[in-house]
Amino acid sequence: MAPSDLLGALRANPFVLAPMAGITDPSFRTLMRRLGCGVVITELVSAHGIEFKSEKTIRLMGFEESQRPFGIQLFGETPEIVARAAKFAEEFGADFIDLNFGCPVPKVVKKGAGSAILRDLPRVAEMFRTVRAAISVPLTVKIRTGWDESSRNADAVAQIAYDEGLTWVAIHGRTRAQGYSGDADWNYIAEVKAKSSIPILGNGDINSAATAVRRLRETGCDGVMIGRGCLKNPWIFREAIELWTNQAAASRTYDFEGLLREMHDTFLARTDEKITMLQLKKFASWYSTGYPGASNFRKAIFQSQALGETLDLALSYFSDLKSVLQADTSHEAFLMGGHG
Ligand SMILES: Cc1cc2nc3c(=O)[nH]c(=O)nc-3n(C[C@H](O)[C@H](O)[C@H](O)COP(=O)(O)O)c2cc1C
Repeated sequence: MAPSDLLGALRANPFVLAPMAGITDPSFRTLMRRLGCGVVITELVSAHGIEFKSEKTIRLMGFEESQRPFGIQLFGETPEIVARAAKFAEEFGADFIDLNFGCPVPKVVKKGAGSAILRDLPRVAEMFRTVRAAISVPLTVKIRTGWDESSRNADAVAQIAYDEGLTWVAIHGRTRAQGYSGDADWNYIAEVKAKSSIPILGNGDINSAATAVRRLRETGCDGVMIGRGCLKNPWIFREAIELWTNQAAASRTYDFEGLLREMHDTFLARTDEKITMLQLKKFASWYSTGYPGASNFRKAIFQSQALGETLDLALSYFSDLKSVLQADTSHEAFLMGGHG
């Protein structure tokens, strides 16, 4: 895919699924694309894992044609190894390669990968240049606003990305030091967008379609990434694109039953009963956020011992919610940790 095609896809639908380790697996990416998301990206994939042809690593990159455009996100500290991994990912079928310069996790940062590279701009340039030279599909990057409050430098990274021919820069509006605390700084994202020649995607704390559209309008960003928001409301992308394109807001048609049955069948086809049960517990718990009785439902579903029981509990809980509105829980802590 050429950069202009990727940017064309972004213009048509600027709502991008944020990479989330352990969540944005092949099934979830397919599901979110079908539910209205414009572009999807794998979770972070280790360039070293690719080098060693680790089966587990390769599995993370699995995709279906319906996901396109889909990107493979890589992390690593050595430019040549990341470049070889990028070439492999391109040949594997990725429409674009995304670099993870945002991961705050000590295990990753200690080796100089993830957000650690933000402290060393010549290394940023070297990484971009080496990887760019190895591939012919577009290269993108996902960063934090900076390492810490006193060294915010997303604007400088965006300039280097532009100079080195990247296609976009996605900014999670927190510093590495912040982890997941505080609020994403959308004023800073807007500032960087205003100064940058390269397309900018904003990211952080988008919990509703209305917020997604407001962030796009207020910042002038070329796209927004939504992560945790789609775990609370899996229809957030569909609602956002409808709102963005000024289609009459669709009546609220949340088909929880269809969704849960589909997830059950998809997980079961790809894994086994035990993993399917765990996944259903996890997703159904997230989806219950902001609905009445969510905490009792979570307790009950986590105690269930068999897949059939788990599915029945979820179906029965959500069947009672057909006309209930989800409360705004944006002030509550939700999944306060991840790899970007
Ligand atoms: C469980 C979890 C896993 C994550 N894994 C990744 C990852 O693999 N790569 C990445 O760039 N960001 C990762 N992130 C960060 C998200 O992409 C996103 O930047 C962050 O959650 C803020 O956006 P949100 O408020 O819309 O969730 C992860 C976040 C969470 C919660």
